[in-house]
Amino acid sequence: MNEFRPGLEGVVAFETEIAEPDREGGALRYRGVDIAELVGHVPYEKVWGLLVDESLESPMPDPEPYEPKSLTGNAPSDLQAETARLSSEWNLRKLVDIEPEEVRDDLARLSAQMMSIVAKSAAVHDGREPAPDDVVEQGQTAAEKFLLRWRGEAEPDHVKAIDTYWICTAEHGLNASTFTARVTASTGADAGAAMSAAVGALSGPLHGGAPARVLPMLDEVAATGDPEGYVRDLLGRRGRIMGFGHRVYRAEDPRSRILKQAARELASPRFEVAEALEEAALAALRELKPDYVIATNVEFYSAVVLDVAEVPPALTPAMFATARVAGWSAHILEEKRTGRLIRPSARYVGPASRSIASVG
Ligand code: COA
Repeated sequence: MNEFRPGLEGVVAFETEIAEPDREGGALRYRGVDIAELVGHVPYEKVWGLLVDESLESPMPDPEPYEPKSLTGNAPSDLQAETARLSSEWNLRKLVDIEPEEVRDDLARLSAQMMSIVAKSAAVHDGREPAPDDVVEQGQTAAEKFLLRWRGEAEPDHVKAIDTYWICTAEHGLNASTFTARVTASTGADAGAAMSAAVGALSGPLHGGAPARVLPMLDEVAATGDPEGYVRDLLGRRGRIMGFGHRVYRAEDPRSRILKQAARELASPRFEVAEALEEAALAALRELKPDYVIATNVEFYSAVVLDVAEVPPALTPAMFATARVAGWSAHILEEKRTGRLIRPSARYVGPASRSIASVG
């Protein structure tokens, strides 16, 4: 119990009924349903219902009318700030003071609004006015409405790319942002505080920010035509190849398989370069770490699929957040139903007791 595990690796902190990443088999199931069965069959908003309410007939609602107070066009920080602001704008009540059904409704409102905030922030970044409600209402699905809000148009291939990406990345167990959401929820804070805390955790490159770094790699490889040389150089400098390696999977990441297939079907112009770099990276990583499986992770082909939808690299952490509103909501609700205050311990290894004069 008292053994220190850096990064909490292998430490079981919760029991969950939401998602099951199957380490060895390389499958991911939401409430028992393989994501391969969901992609292309139901839109993201129904997957939100599956994760949060265990029902495909309880979808994420449309966003209610609301104007974010101050968008800068930097989507991750806009999303974090505006989500935190919703706690007071909407007078969200503390989780500790309300019933799970009320928490669920707060999470549904927040999830829908968070998508809308990112779409509006992306429009501001592009120097455009976000599209008005009557244009957005023409969309059938959350992905279509998101694109309409952002750009005033939604090409079917772009909708498919975003919907596939959102479903594949909607939930993945106890990653850093979900852990953050649950820790915050465990204090009894309101749902807006828990969601905005999760957005902050997601913004780092080792978690949600990796796709932003994949496209520049692909550009470099396309320019030189030498994926092996690129990988050799990077590993020689002890650099990390973005989009490879995972804390949980010791097999191919199932999301990577689905996203790769989508990138192929959507005729991504970067597909060929991506596949060549993937091959070179896997071979070099096998040689570098023969006893440690480092496979393609979700971020690599996410970057390629999002590129099909013309999502710029800088927007990818916020896109990840829009997908993850489902997983965060499900975990915050599970925490409300089953959790208790999360408060692990740290082992003190600092200086022994000493006088103030010795500090200098
Ligand atoms: N490129 C190069 N080396 C890698 C690597 C990568 N993508 N992933 C792991 N390694 C190496 C590390 O350098 C380390 O080597 P060392 O022991 O000689 O220092 C070893 O493998 C173990 O790394 P560690 O960070 O402890 O493994 P992990 O399983 O906890 O790593 C990640 C998980 C995701 C943090 C890591 O694989 C990574 O940084 N990947 C790149 C970033 C990325 O794609 N993030 C998105 C994750 S979905």
